[in-house]
Amino acid sequence: VKRVTTHTLQAMKEAGEKIAMLTAYDFSMARILDAGGADVLLVGDSASNVMAGHETTLPITLDQMIYHASSVVRGVQRALVVVDLPFGTYQGDSKMALKSSIRIMKESGAHAVKLEGGQEVSESIRRILKAGIPVMGHLGLTPQSIYKFGTYTVRAREEAEAQRLVSDAEMLAELGCFGLVLEKIPAKLAKRVSETVNIPTVGIGGGNDCDGQVLVTQDMLGITKDFHPRFLRRYADLFTVIREATAAYVADVKSQDFPNEEEQY
Ligand code: KIV
Ligand code: NA
Repeated sequence: VKRVTTHTLQAMKEAGEKIAMLTAYDFSMARILDAGGADVLLVGDSASNVMAGHETTLPITLDQMIYHASSVVRGVQRALVVVDLPFGTYQGDSKMALKSSIRIMKESGAHAVKLEGGQEVSESIRRILKAGIPVMGHLGLTPQSIYKFGTYTVRAREEAEAQRLVSDAEMLAELGCFGLVLEKIPAKLAKRVSETVNIPTVGIGGGNDCDGQVLVTQDMLGITKDFHPRFLRRYADLFTVIREATAAYVADVKSQDFPNEEEQY
C-alpha cells in the first residue's frame, strides 16, 4: 500500500478530496482504523482522558505519549501518524520543543508532531521545522489551555478573536506547518480559514468546509459515554456491544457453559 504523507494531504486539499483523521493510542485499534481507510491517525494527548481517565489533557507525559505513539506506528501500514506534543514539553522554550519532538520521532517512529497555539509558540514551531520534522498546528479550542479559558465552549465567536485566529492560521501556514486542526469554532470562521490558508485544515466541531475532519475514536465508536457535543456523530455503540459481550461471558463462566468440550485440551 502507498503511504499517506504530508504531501498527499496537500494534494488532497488541492483536489478537493476530504481528509479523514481519527485518534489512535494503541496497536490493535490502529490496525483496525488503518484497515478502515483513515488517512491520518492522531496520537492525541486526549489519551490522557480516554486511556488514562484524567479530567484534562495536562497530566500526560512525553514518555507516555511516546509509548502510545510507538504502539500506533507498529499497527499502521498506510496512515500518516501524527503525535501531540504534551503540555509542558514545548511552550516557552523552543529548544525544549525541538528536543521533545526529536524524542517522539526517534523513539516512536511517528511521522509528524502537533502542538497547540499560534503566535505564542511560533519560535518552537520554527525550530522543529528547521530540523525537518513536519508540524501540524491546532487553533480554536486548545484543551491544554483549559485553565486559562475556564470552559470547553465554542471559541472565536467575537470578531476580535476570530481575526486573531485567522492571522495565527496564516502565520502557521507561512512558517511551513503541513496542516492545521480547527477545534470548536463557528463553521463560517473555519470556512474562512480554510479558504485563506493554502494548507489543509482538519476540523473537529468546525463544520463541513474544513479540508478534513477528526474525531476521537472512542467517541465516534460509542465507547465513551456521557459526552454529547453537537459535533460528535456516533457510528457505533460499542459500549453496549462490549458490555453485553462481557455479561454473556460472565454468565457462561458462572454457569460452566464456557469452556465446553471443544474449548479444552
Ligand atoms: O488530542 C486530541 O484528540 C486532539 C484532537 C481532538 C484534534 O487534539
Ligand atoms: Na490534542
